[in-house]
Amino acid sequence: MLWSLYFGLLALVLRHVAASTLYLDPQTGLTFASDEKIYMNDKQGIIYRFAIPDGIDSTATPYDTVIQIVAPREVTWAGLAFGGTMDKCPLFVAYRSNGGQQAVTGSIRWAPGHQAPVPYTGANYTVYKEGTKSNNTHWQITARCTGCTSWIPEKNAATKYMRFTGSNRVAMAMGLKPVANPNSNTSDIDYHYMHAYWDADFKMATNANFTTTVQKLKGFEATS
Ligand code: HEM
Ligand SMILES: *[C@@H]1O[C@H](CO)[C@@H](O)[C@H](O)[C@H]1NC(C)=O
Ligand SMILES: *[C@@H]1O[C@H](CO)[C@@H](O)[C@H](O)[C@H]1NC(C)=O
Ligand SMILES: *[C@@H]1O[C@H](CO)[C@@H](O)[C@H](O)[C@H]1NC(C)=O
Ligand SMILES: *[C@@H]1O[C@H](CO)[C@@H](O)[C@H](O)[C@H]1NC(C)=O
Repeated sequence: MLWSLYFGLLALVLRHVAASTLYLDPQTGLTFASDEKIYMNDKQGIIYRFAIPDGIDSTATPYDTVIQIVAPREVTWAGLAFGGTMDKCPLFVAYRSNGGQQAVTGSIRWAPGHQAPVPYTGANYTVYKEGTKSNNTHWQITARCTGCTSWIPEKNAATKYMRFTGSNRVAMAMGLKPVANPNSNTSDIDYHYMHAYWDADFKMATNANFTTTVQKLKGFEATS
């Protein structure tokens, strides 16, 4: 009893201090800051990765980010909340598609509160052929978002900018119930099975040749 309590606390502490790790993606040539979020039985994890440009010179500068999500096949959708809460920040949501040109569908949404998010028009994204695929065990998506690292939380509020020199508190959520229309980027999705928070290391995510590297990648035609 005491032992299991001890190990339980240890696991919590270890997870709490776990820092982003560096991941060089052979398919895109980008360097990502990578974090894995465990959601079940301390075994299955979803990986979230960020890549950002270098040369950003002021804290009030909007900048693009490439995000990569790798999820076990049983995960029906996985989402990323850029602002570290569900509400009032850009949410990137991805789900394995049901055939079609793209293995995984991306979607950008916004929730004014703790209710089903709606499409968000303040940002847009390109899903890259390199790094978007699925197999018998996993699916993964790689997408660039323009407009995800800065946003206006509500009317008359100041713009929020994500730090590019340090860490940002972000959040994820994921589901295990089927997505209604997985080839559509406006599909309904069910309430999450779990959510988690962490500090993503955006300094580690910096790429010296971000723009030229990203320009070489092939985007899918947008699907709605
Ligand atoms: C699909 C419809 C969704 C519904 C109905 C919904 C509903 C809710 C509700 C009621 C809560 C508060 C209770 C709780 O903590 O469990 C919550 C929390 C949360 N949700 Fe959602 N959610 C949805 C989708 C999403 C998506 C797509 C994301 C992320 C991409 C997300 C991220 C979070 C996070 C991080 C929390 C923790 C509280 C916070 O930090 O704001 N949710 N959600
Ligand atoms: C869906 O894709 C279209 C482009 O075809 C884009 O204009 C729209 O913002 C996307 N919607 C969502 C919710 O991601
Ligand atoms: C299946 O896809 C995942 C995610 O892309 C990858 O990590 C894994 O190596 C793949 N498995 C096989 C057997 O190719
Ligand atoms: C994409 O989003 C950015 C930032 O909100 C905006 O400046 C740009 O015009 C958008 N592009 C398209 C094609 O919608
Ligand atoms: C960036 O590109 C330049 C010119 O091609 C090259 O010399 C340099 O090594 C690259 N840096 C990184 C970090 O890839």
